[in-house]
Amino acid sequence: MVINMRSGPPDVRCRRFFQDNWPQANREIFGWGEQERWQKKYTVLTYEENGEILGAALFWQMGGVGYLSQILVSAAHRRRGIGARLVTAFERECSACHKLALKTYKDSPSQQFFARLGYVPEAVLEVDIHGIDWVYMRKGERECGRK
Ligand SMILES: CC(C)(COP(=O)(O)OP(=O)(O)OC[C@H]1O[C@@H](n2cnc3c(N)ncnc32)[C@H](O)[C@@H]1OP(=O)(O)O)[C@@H](O)C(=O)NCCC(=O)NCCS
Repeated sequence: MVINMRSGPPDVRCRRFFQDNWPQANREIFGWGEQERWQKKYTVLTYEENGEILGAALFWQMGGVGYLSQILVSAAHRRRGIGARLVTAFERECSACHKLALKTYKDSPSQQFFARLGYVPEAVLEVDIHGIDWVYMRKGERECGRK
């Protein structure tokens, strides 16, 4: 018996192990085995003026969830509606998703920003990354008025 450890992404043998074994495990758990259903579709958004990026956002879509992983507006250009425009573009691109989600630090200005845009807290992640509380926020079919 040996447990090998190395840093970095999985090597070819390990990738092949996952490829060979996940379909059966997924069939046991979910009743289907298509690995493509786990593929995240990544998108980058930039807000630009005169060729300069003033704000940017990254998100992915998978399994009916649109997840906003980063959003940042440069300090000199905040409170001009740039962040809200980026979120609107994210939501438009994810219009087929049943849920939009993100994580931000709890009781923060950014939580207020997302609340203003209709996102509601779904769970608090206590003493999480960097030892602080985070909040997982969602905007689902109800909040989007899609159903
Ligand atoms: C959060 C962030 C992206 C918002 O971008 P922005 O362009 O300044 O936001 P908008 O101008 O579109 O704001 C829309 C509304 O959200 C609310 N809002 C925005 N910033 C806020 C703040 N600091 N405090 C309270 N409410 C805020 C306001 O209601 C605002 O409308 P108003 O200006 O008419 O009152 C920006 O502050 C930022 O980049 N912060 C640092 C990075 C960060 O925290 N990212 C999110 C972490 S996951």
